[in-house]
Amino acid sequence: MTSRDPEIHIRVATLGDLPTVVRLIAALVDELGPPAVADRVRPLLSQDLAPALSSPLVRIFLAEYHGTAIGLSRGDILTTDPVFRLRPDHRCGYVDQMYVDAAFRDRGIGYDLLRCCEDWFRQEGITHALLHAAPKAIRFYVRRGYRSNREMFKRL
Ligand SMILES: CC(C)(COP(=O)(O)OP(=O)(O)OC[C@H]1O[C@@H](n2cnc3c(N)ncnc32)[C@H](O)[C@@H]1OP(=O)(O)O)[C@@H](O)C(=O)NCCC(=O)NCCS
Repeated sequence: MTSRDPEIHIRVATLGDLPTVVRLIAALVDELGPPAVADRVRPLLSQDLAPALSSPLVRIFLAEYHGTAIGLSRGDILTTDPVFRLRPDHRCGYVDQMYVDAAFRDRGIGYDLLRCCEDWFRQEGITHALLHAAPKAIRFYVRRGYRSNREMFKRL
C-alpha cells in the first residue's frame, strides 16, 4: 500500500498478525500511560484485538520496514455515533491506536497510516472521521485537518 517512503510498506493486518499488533499497541499504551492504566490494559489486548482483526467494520494497517512492523493505525466504522444517527447515512469513521516506533517518527509514516484509514472510509462512502487525540498528538491531527467540534468530556 502507498507510503511516500520506499523503504516502508503498509498493509492491512490479518488475524495472523495478532502478536505483532499486540506488541505495537502495548508500546503505545506504555508510552501514553499512566503506568497503572498501561498495566491494567496490557493483559486485555489480545482478547480485544482478535475480534477487531476479524471484523469487517475494523481495519488495522501495519507499516513495515524491511518486513518488521514499526507502526500501525486502526479504523473502525461506527454505526451508533449519536451525532450522526439521524442522518440518512449514520456511519462515521473512527481513527484509533495510531503508533509509530520512536526511531521512525517525523518521516511521514504517521501521516501515511492516517491516510490509509481515511481512504478506506472514503471507499466505503463514509464522509466523516472522528478521533480522540492524546494531548501530545493534537497538533499532528490538527495539521491534517481535524478540528474539535462540540464534544466535551467529564469524568463521572
Ligand atoms: C502521533 C504519531 C503516530 C505520529 O507519527 P509520525 O510518523 O511521527 O508522523 P509524521 O511523520 O507523519 O508527522 C510527524 C511530524 O513530522 C513531520 N513530517 C511529516 N512528514 C515528514 C517527512 N517526510 N520528513 C520529515 N518530517 C515530516 C510533520 O510535519 C509532523 O509534524 P507536526 O506534528 O508538527 O505536524 C507518533 O508520534 C506516535 O506514535 N506518537 C506516540 C503515540 C501517540 O501519541 N499516538 C496518538 C494517539 S491519539
